[in-house]
Amino acid sequence: MSHSTPHFDYHNGVLHAETTALSTLAEVYGTPLYVYSKAALLSNFDAYASACGTRDALICYAMKANSNLAILDLLARRGAGFDIVSGGELLRVLAAGGDPGKVIFSGVGKSVADMRLALSHDILCFNVESIAELHRLNEVAGSMGKTARISLRVNPNVDAKTHPYIATGLKASKFGVAFDDALQTYRVAAALPHLAVTGIDCHIGSQLLDDAPLLAALDKLIELIDELALEGIVLHHLDIGGGLGIDYGEAGEAAPVPVDIYLGRLFRRIDQWRSARHDGVPIKVIFEPGRSIVGNVGVLLTTVEYLKKGEEKNFCIVDAAMNDLMRPALYQAWMGVHAVRPHSGETADLYDVVGPVCESGDWLAKDRILSAEAGDVLAITCAGAYGLTMASNYNTRGRAAEVIVDGDRVHLVREREQAADLFALERLIK
Ligand code: LLP
Repeated sequence: MSHSTPHFDYHNGVLHAETTALSTLAEVYGTPLYVYSKAALLSNFDAYASACGTRDALICYAMKANSNLAILDLLARRGAGFDIVSGGELLRVLAAGGDPGKVIFSGVGKSVADMRLALSHDILCFNVESIAELHRLNEVAGSMGKTARISLRVNPNVDAKTHPYIATGLKASKFGVAFDDALQTYRVAAALPHLAVTGIDCHIGSQLLDDAPLLAALDKLIELIDELALEGIVLHHLDIGGGLGIDYGEAGEAAPVPVDIYLGRLFRRIDQWRSARHDGVPIKVIFEPGRSIVGNVGVLLTTVEYLKKGEEKNFCIVDAAMNDLMRPALYQAWMGVHAVRPHSGETADLYDVVGPVCESGDWLAKDRILSAEAGDVLAITCAGAYGLTMASNYNTRGRAAEVIVDGDRVHLVREREQAADLFALERLIK
């Protein structure tokens, strides 16, 4: 279809995932339906892995992007670690057979229960975001007779003016420790008895199309690592976070820098720095990619329910809604919409693609030329990241089913939620 969704293409007038017709999947499993390509997933992961080559590097997939157990299992078997943000995500990693020794734990609000669970499984590292969290983690680890490995999430405050996509690396963000406070915070951490200071991390934002801000952040981390070494605080890993963007297909949007180019530049910079240091201390490099691993791996299939033509607007009302895919409603995100079986264009018109939810904000796409009829199946493309993981049950709508396509084989990896599932935990008062 386009170079950005390489495993989704038209054959004989029907959109396919690998060699499976999406029209067949819609018939068999119903819609809304998330469809993922196994080959696309593995090739995205392999792009990171091969750019790392034989280096001491770990790709900790940011599973908030898509945490289906089957996806985690495929990545774990490929050698992935995981970036988690809750105890629940750790339980998913374990359920999928992932190695907790390759798990890093991000997030500003880790609870005592989350810390206990993660410590009991000896995760690789806690990415700590505040002094208060350092003290809490030290206490919890001490009470369990354990030592927690920690990294500080530093906020490198890279220039947002030239890079408007950066949302989390600025001073005003709730995330991380301010760059200017980092040295002092490391001193606090190093003095706490139940913590082992092992690394440094950052995550400056998501859907970055240019790697310049990432490389600027790297320079700031390097600066801190050198300053810390002078004080005898020696770090063993550097975690640059995730954030690399994907091509959603919007006209006029710049193409994202390819993974191999970005990692090549990053490693070159690290090599120059290490060879200038001469202290022989090796440093492991950790990545936390989410969107760039799963974004273009999935589509959301939805069926056209009604066409509603008006004086000012035409609406293409589909069976998927903001509860299935929140990105347009929440961020005004642009998502591609493609007919699974395109008609010849004589009925084409301009539509907003909207769902059945009772909110004006419930739209999936605006002002698209579509030649649609009721009953047609549409594919919302690049929906593999932050799709089902952000879905809700608003309007008592069950979350969509998920399938993984492997050539012409199809695996149902999440059943569709039924209405009874949605109120099963509720009780009438006696
Ligand atoms: N590491 C940390 C600490 C993060 O907070 C995130 C994403 C990632 C890694 C992965 O970032 P990625 O490689 O996917 O850019 N729901 C939004 C995106 C939120 C990103 C949150 N943090 C969306 O749909 O665009």
